[in-house]
Amino acid sequence: MIAIGSDHGGFALKQEVMAYLEDKGIEYKDYGTYTKDSCDYPVYAKKVANAILSGECEKGILICGTGIGISITANKFKGIRAAVCHDCFSAQATREHNDANILAMGARVVGPGLALKIVDTFLNTEFSNDERHINRIKQIEE
Ligand code: RB5
Repeated sequence: MIAIGSDHGGFALKQEVMAYLEDKGIEYKDYGTYTKDSCDYPVYAKKVANAILSGECEKGILICGTGIGISITANKFKGIRAAVCHDCFSAQATREHNDANILAMGARVVGPGLALKIVDTFLNTEFSNDERHINRIKQIEE
């Protein structure tokens, strides 16, 4: 199950991402926001982070205007590794090296075409399980 959330800045792109997930038969849960009205990105970052930490969802997707505010908030939670990715190389590398559990994107930075490729890459790339990467991830939590 994928947890997805956005603020108003990411609302329209979130609709596109959800349609894409539906098309691919990937289960997701939408944690809001549910309208285009102005709102606060930390609210949705917290909801998605908690959905992952509780085990309800395995991974998350967070979208705001830049991807920055929403990822800064999510990364305050121990065990959350949210990566802002606006290219497929970063999306692949953050899964392989950082075992990132949240993909963050900025709807004012990328268009829907690229965003969907980034989502696809993020969701279909496994963690490398290399000793050195496991060791580095452990150090994040210390
Ligand atoms: C909202 O205007 C904007 O600040 C927000 O979506 C995000 O870009 C913050 O980092």
